[in-house]
Amino acid sequence: MYPTMDIRTTVAIVGAGPAGLLLGHLLAKSGIDFVIIENRSREYTLGRIRAGVLEQSSVAVLASLGLDGRLSEHGLVHDGIYLQYAGQRHHVDFNALIGRTVTVYGQQQVVNDLMLAHDALGSAVYFESADVLPRDIDTPRPSVEFTHDGTSYSVEADFVVGADGFHGVSRTIIPADSITTYERDYPFAWLGILANVAPSTDELIYALHPEGFAMHSMRSPQVSRLYLQVDPDEKIDDWSDQRIWDGLHRRLGIDGWTLHEGEITEKSITPMRSFVASTLNYGTLYLVGDAGHIVPPTGAKGLNAAISDVAMLGAAFTTYYAGDAGPLSTYSERALRRQWKTQYFSRWMTEMLHTSGAGTEAEFRYRGQVGQLEYVTGSHYALQSLAEQYTGLPIEGI
Ligand code: FAD
Ligand code: DHB
Repeated sequence: MYPTMDIRTTVAIVGAGPAGLLLGHLLAKSGIDFVIIENRSREYTLGRIRAGVLEQSSVAVLASLGLDGRLSEHGLVHDGIYLQYAGQRHHVDFNALIGRTVTVYGQQQVVNDLMLAHDALGSAVYFESADVLPRDIDTPRPSVEFTHDGTSYSVEADFVVGADGFHGVSRTIIPADSITTYERDYPFAWLGILANVAPSTDELIYALHPEGFAMHSMRSPQVSRLYLQVDPDEKIDDWSDQRIWDGLHRRLGIDGWTLHEGEITEKSITPMRSFVASTLNYGTLYLVGDAGHIVPPTGAKGLNAAISDVAMLGAAFTTYYAGDAGPLSTYSERALRRQWKTQYFSRWMTEMLHTSGAGTEAEFRYRGQVGQLEYVTGSHYALQSLAEQYTGLPIEGI
């Protein structure tokens, strides 16, 4: 038997990814107590290489909390992106189109900034917790049980927030008759690399090629991030560094432009999924980020979607403790309204830029995609719509 420890807090947060860590800061700013419970180690959570693009509204949320020190120094502000198809590269200038920009800044850096700021606050963050289990979420006295460092903990709270990602425990404890999940898999995946080489482009390139999608992103003036569409059952061991570079050269290459190679320091394959839960609230449990929804990565929305949920929920908790329960009671509905728009945009970008099928069916699809890309890059209205969605729809109440 482990020794036991009972803790009382106001909000118990499950998961120390970007969503959980950011919510802690929003609560701290309003003087609301919280505890964060994470099942992985601090090093592991810091080491995960994931998203790289922050919407303008996400940057504004971080700035409103004074968490943008390193971001404003090291983030790369981009006016737009390039869309490439049929051997041509088109610049989409968001700033000229709608006066908004995005910032390239890795999720790892965001998580690192949030963790360091929690260290400075002395926040209670329990890494390497085992058997994490929210309980009594249908009562006004929910709790989270877990073991940590040889002790059994029970954290009693007013509310529990599931910020524990797609594979987390929080969503799964909502009774099946109170939640429906909508899901869609794609017949492709992304092989992503990090390479120690200066980016060969000033802004991100999204390319449709008959062989499949490719993208050139970056992490800093010295580090490039690149992606190739592959089959979901591909094994990373079958992709030598040279095979990856050859694919990138073929799919990204255009006349008069050179893709520079460098040492590959990380490579992995990520499947793609669209997923939305019908509710982000059950009793005293609230879901944020990947725990409630997943997008395919083509629109660069996953991390931003998590930030928008957290901004809305943080504001709703603040209002709740100021005496108005209204915004908290409508959080799920309001957050999902924004998420469904993000879902549709991510799926549209994904379908427009990835190839699939064989024979005339694949050809039919590809020609339609080129038609769509010609339309988008040739229409001021379509470009404005793309710019508005890529740089981020407004976050209600922020
Ligand atoms: P997460 O980052 O998943 O954080 C959840 C946290 O909860 C984790 O630290 C996890 O360890 C913890 N946890 C899980 N279960 C438990 C438990 N039972 N108890 C306690 N803690 C638990 N988005 C993009 O926009 N572009 C990309 O290129 C991109 N690449 C990605 C690559 C990968 C491999 C993955 C998985 C996602 C990628 N995403 C990308 C999506 C983006 O990273 C996520 O949307 C974002 O991380 C969501 O943040 P979150 O805090 O909601 O969830
Ligand atoms: C990155 C990831 C994305 O999904 C995207 O659309 C753009 C950039 C990145 O990892 O840099």
